[in-house]
Amino acid sequence: MLPPLDHIPREIASLSDYETFAQARVDPGTWAYLNAGAGDEWTLRENVAAFARLPLRRRMLRSMRGATTATRLLGLDLQAPILIAPTAYHRLAHPDGELATVLAAGATDTCMVVSTQASLPIEDIAAAATGPLWFQLYIQPDREFTRALVQRAEAAGYRALVVTVDAPVNGLRNAEARAGFALPADIGPVNLAGMQMPQQEAAANALLFGTAIIDHAPVWDDIAWLRAQTRLPVIVKGITDPDDAALAVESGVDGIIVSNHGGRVLDGVPASIDLLPAIVEAVDGWVPVLMDGGVRRGNDVLRALALGASAVLIGRPVLHALATAGALGVAHAIRVLRAELELAMASTGCRTIDEIGLQCLHNFGVARSAW
Ligand code: FNR
Repeated sequence: MLPPLDHIPREIASLSDYETFAQARVDPGTWAYLNAGAGDEWTLRENVAAFARLPLRRRMLRSMRGATTATRLLGLDLQAPILIAPTAYHRLAHPDGELATVLAAGATDTCMVVSTQASLPIEDIAAAATGPLWFQLYIQPDREFTRALVQRAEAAGYRALVVTVDAPVNGLRNAEARAGFALPADIGPVNLAGMQMPQQEAAANALLFGTAIIDHAPVWDDIAWLRAQTRLPVIVKGITDPDDAALAVESGVDGIIVSNHGGRVLDGVPASIDLLPAIVEAVDGWVPVLMDGGVRRGNDVLRALALGASAVLIGRPVLHALATAGALGVAHAIRVLRAELELAMASTGCRTIDEIGLQCLHNFGVARSAW
């Protein structure tokens, strides 16, 4: 395995270029963990492929003077509508783990969503942060432990809670099982120390029904309960259905993330970008709708915003950049994505994030934009 790079080679010109560099720097089991999708990985592929089915509509000669990617989201001023998605165990990808990611997030003024399954204490990550952080919460079997975790995140200065609802169970994916993936002894969910986990078969294809895992899995009442535990904005992540989006709004959440968990939980769910429009319609402007899954280009960011997203989150490419070149890699990847977004906005005649709309998509039934 090669060590992380201390510079960005010229061969890395886009986010996907990081993949080969990352693969050479982690063991095969870890590579499988970072990239695996559930089942036959159809959803995983669709997340990326569906963006390519949304051709863009160019407009010429509009002045871009004063153009900006800046936007406001749930009380945050962001330089661009791009956030770092919560992903577990950054120390698998790089020895500095989440401390490298948070350095890059601060340097690029990007909001990082820190996972419940971070490989470093959430307080240490917050202490190293120079930009805004959100905390991703998995509601734990023990609700008192969950409440204490929320209080820790609040005390450490996290600015919102992202409660992930689409991964109630966590079996090995086929690719991980085949590669023999297991967490190294020195990497684990340190923020869950002391939490009594119900026994779960670690094997692939474990049976679930009748086990304690299912008995303790969160339900809608837990979202209302969580809402009452905190004054932070609560954003629910993992919504793929308009009816669930409506239930989330009824439960008092402040935001929704359309996500199929990067195709890692249920294979056969449509691509996030294909699910987005109906959910945006159901939410009807009550709360911001974000999305993740398959965003690999600035053009994809523009497509998601055109279909009504307020912002997007980036998962695997951040881990690939982290494995390749630590904080430098992650900062570079974010910069590349922003540069691509600027070019996409300039080419579609959008001076501001608010101007991005259906008129940016070819043949999308919108005849004219006002200007
Ligand atoms: C994830 N994801 C995730 N989500 C979450 O809410 N908590 C978590 O701990 C994790 N862990 C995690 C680990 C790895 C290795 C991956 C690839 C993903 C899901 C993540 O937040 C996001 O939804 C997807 O990664 C987005 O898809 P892309 O950008 O990877 O295509």
